[in-house]
Amino acid sequence: MQSGLALGIETSCDETAAAVIRNGREIVSNVVLSQIDIHQKYGGVVPEIASRHHIEAIFPVINEALEEAQVTLDDLEVIAVAYGPGLVGSLLVGVAAAKALAFAKGIPLVGVNHIEGHIYANFLSGQDVNPPLVCLTVSGGHTDLLLIPSLGQYEILGRTRDDAAGEAFDKVARVLGLPYPGGPQIEKLAKEGNREAIVFPRGLLEKDNFDFSFSGLKTAALNYLNGAKQRGETVHLPDFAASFQWAIIDVLTEKLIAAAREHKVRQVVLSGGVAANATFREHVAEKVKELGMELLYPPRHLCTDNAAMIGSAGYFGYLAGRRSDYSLNAVANLRLGD
Ligand code: KG4
Ligand code: ZN
Repeated sequence: MQSGLALGIETSCDETAAAVIRNGREIVSNVVLSQIDIHQKYGGVVPEIASRHHIEAIFPVINEALEEAQVTLDDLEVIAVAYGPGLVGSLLVGVAAAKALAFAKGIPLVGVNHIEGHIYANFLSGQDVNPPLVCLTVSGGHTDLLLIPSLGQYEILGRTRDDAAGEAFDKVARVLGLPYPGGPQIEKLAKEGNREAIVFPRGLLEKDNFDFSFSGLKTAALNYLNGAKQRGETVHLPDFAASFQWAIIDVLTEKLIAAAREHKVRQVVLSGGVAANATFREHVAEKVKELGMELLYPPRHLCTDNAAMIGSAGYFGYLAGRRSDYSLNAVANLRLGD
């Protein structure tokens, strides 16, 4: 069936998502069922609870995506599913569902790396992804700085040695008693704050490499809060949030821009949940403009986990001849290029 229609399936963390994509670029339907409410009372995602909810939700979500797109399984040219990295019990649900449908209907199956999916979110807003480019994928689980010399080729320039940037947001927000996920909460608080109020450490900033480290910043932020508590002082939360957020944005941007300059790329691309942060986007935009390069980032709702990005990456992979067989399995620590 040469319909150009791909069904994308995404269950790598706490979102059960399915989407129908046309020609890798056009969103026909995009259903995201978030479990945030369920996990919020635990302050983070509980893997066993996540996979149980994926099992209940996966087929209703897929049906909703097909119905909204007004297509049936018979209209699909390919089924794309995220098979890693992520929570293995969660990934397995999407992978099993995708394999079952592909087998039952004889539809080609393509396993997609979730990080690659985040990058392809940029294709879904009418933008032209035009390598060579450097891409920073920043989410709750990842902080990867990539050189993409041509589509489908990935060279990892650097990654976090400890916490992911989104994880640092989430952990500090949790200590502040803010709901999960913490990034948007800190961003909201930071709007009224002074980012110069508190000087937090910048991990590995002076080092001559593209790796990141956020655990030192996280510890410094937690020590700051504890110190104030012990002295009976009240913390000015907007200043705290703005300074903390700025420490993350500063390091991410410095390294990204240094990589863009060193590799003389055409485009600089942001992806992943943290790329939804408006202050981060604005700061990177200023720096990229100075370099005379082009900046791409997905619309906010496509920065966080969704299946449209998986459908897009899977469709382009399919066009390039990529196929998965029924032995496809979830790989919790899947790396780009594997
Ligand atoms: O890509 P994503 O939905 O899931 C993963 O693959 O991890 O990213 C979620 C992460 C969370 O850590 C969340 O706090 C962070 O992205 N995030 C943000 C913002 N929106 C989401 N961080 C900072 N500012 C935001 N506006
Ligand atoms: Zn993600």
